[in-house]
Amino acid sequence: MAPLSFPRPPLVDEVVALRPWRRADIPQKVAGFSDPLCLRFSWPLTERFTEAHVRRSLEDEERERLNGKALNFAVVDVAAREHVLGGAEFHDVDRARSCAGVGYWLAPHARGRGLAARTVRLLAGWGFERLALARLELTCAPDNTASQRVAERCGFTREGVLRSHLPFQGGRRDTVMYGLLPGELR
Ligand SMILES: CC(C)(COP(=O)(O)OP(=O)(O)OC[C@H]1O[C@@H](n2cnc3c(N)ncnc32)[C@H](O)[C@@H]1OP(=O)(O)O)[C@@H](O)C(=O)NCCC(=O)NCCS
Repeated sequence: MAPLSFPRPPLVDEVVALRPWRRADIPQKVAGFSDPLCLRFSWPLTERFTEAHVRRSLEDEERERLNGKALNFAVVDVAAREHVLGGAEFHDVDRARSCAGVGYWLAPHARGRGLAARTVRLLAGWGFERLALARLELTCAPDNTASQRVAERCGFTREGVLRSHLPFQGGRRDTVMYGLLPGELR
């Protein structure tokens, strides 16, 4: 599959900007993600999350970008772009089917201000326009209420529960599937 390119100009609104991760972000990424909510909902492994995982993820994510499968962004403060608020990505990009998934997390200090919804709106708008997506998926755990609110606020439709969908933290996890089609973004 053809490589995915980062948006030019970068995606921004009045509050957040989305840019590629940099090596200098590693300490902030580790600190932001090492909180109980991120680990509970977004860390699928049984082994402890460490800085080594973040270092490796930069290389893995670049490989996925070059393979046309994923595009990972640092979510940063629009006025101070070295200040990391969280992370977001397109994953499971399938250009043949014109489908992709969207994911996100925020550091604890960045929550409660609607920043995940802002991030999803930027990604969805660009994905429909520039990747010509016909369908954008957002998946989360059945007990991840905050994430489900983000999906609903952005106009996604709750389509059902995929039972035993994922290997997760040593077991398997159900997934709530949300879908967004062109013209439905709010
Ligand atoms: C999901 C996440 C990014 C949302 O961050 P956020 O944009 O700051 O979201 P908020 O804290 O404002 O919460 C969004 C909504 O859920 C509600 N909410 C948050 N926690 C809740 C809870 N435990 N129970 C019920 N409602 C809750 C908020 O009141 C808000 O409601 P509103 O839309 O009516 O205003 C953040 O919680 C996070 O980083 N979680 C850990 C990683 C994660 O779960 N990623 C998503 C994986 S699918």
